Amino acid sequence: MRPHILVTRDLPGPALRLLAESCEVDLNREERTLRKEEIVAMIPGKAGLLCTLSDRVDREVINAGKELKIIANYAVGINNIDVSYAKQNRIFVTNTPDVLTDATADIAWALILTLTRRIIPADRFTREGKFRGWAPGLFLGKSIQKKVLGIIGMGRIGKAVARRGVAFGMKVVYSDPNRLGGEEEKNLSIQYLPFQQLLRAADVLTLHLPLTEESRGLVGEKELASMKKGVFLINTARGEIVNEKALVRFLKSGHLAGAGLDVYEREPAMEEELKMMENVVLLPHIGSATVEVREKMAMVAAQNILAALRGEKPPNCVF
Ligand code: GLV
Ligand code: GLV
Repeated sequence: MRPHILVTRDLPGPALRLLAESCEVDLNREERTLRKEEIVAMIPGKAGLLCTLSDRVDREVINAGKELKIIANYAVGINNIDVSYAKQNRIFVTNTPDVLTDATADIAWALILTLTRRIIPADRFTREGKFRGWAPGLFLGKSIQKKVLGIIGMGRIGKAVARRGVAFGMKVVYSDPNRLGGEEEKNLSIQYLPFQQLLRAADVLTLHLPLTEESRGLVGEKELASMKKGVFLINTARGEIVNEKALVRFLKSGHLAGAGLDVYEREPAMEEELKMMENVVLLPHIGSATVEVREKMAMVAAQNILAALRGEKPPNCVF
């Protein structure tokens, strides 16, 4: 009998056809996230769940999925899944690392450059027909060369951001609960700093850590206050790592020079005031959003499902 799997969103590329060769695929073809009750209603009898970061896979979903062997997240972050409960129930949980590392580092850099060079207001000004000729004081930004890029979280994405930072002539410092070895720090040309020191040192601070109980609210009032005046904050990780209300206050007071956000604390909702601010750039969670990467992510998720259904430990099992 062919195993049944649930795929919560239509995905680009050939991955779903590959799955359909050996599985019965129940696919949500609608352009919307399924409600949790819908997933709970559809999950009985399914051996695999291919879900996105917008699907909350909690105990209720896992309890309803009596036949589940694998939950394959279409994302590198897995905070939407109760991983320990899945593990306890002998269900694999997988993610899609590596294939999205460069794209996510690129979007962080797109935000850094867009903010520091005031690209969005300058573009608007030009479109509005206000460009009357070159001027010495027109849209002066901030140079990043020789400034300090502070990276919180030195995993794959953090390292890719660091390489770009070095290439742009920045001094790169990082903090992470797991400090890298001296050799690797040297190869990357980066320096470790304890979290508090990193906050004080950075001219641009960028977040590349997973959302966990330890990182939830990591950047709040106190941390923002200890940052340099004029710092730029970039978040392409998870919104819940930053206290968004505090962020708005520090942007308004001018303590922060700007913020580049791809993620929000109550996504897709955000603090309304952010939308009124000139010195923020707001993206709709598109860190991994290239055609190439999204197709590869689908293939990685499909391969994980197929491995689990063959009775193997899937390549990207997170435990
Ligand atoms: C996107 O946020 C991801 O975790 O892949
Ligand atoms: C995610 O892939 C990370 O390790 O940064």
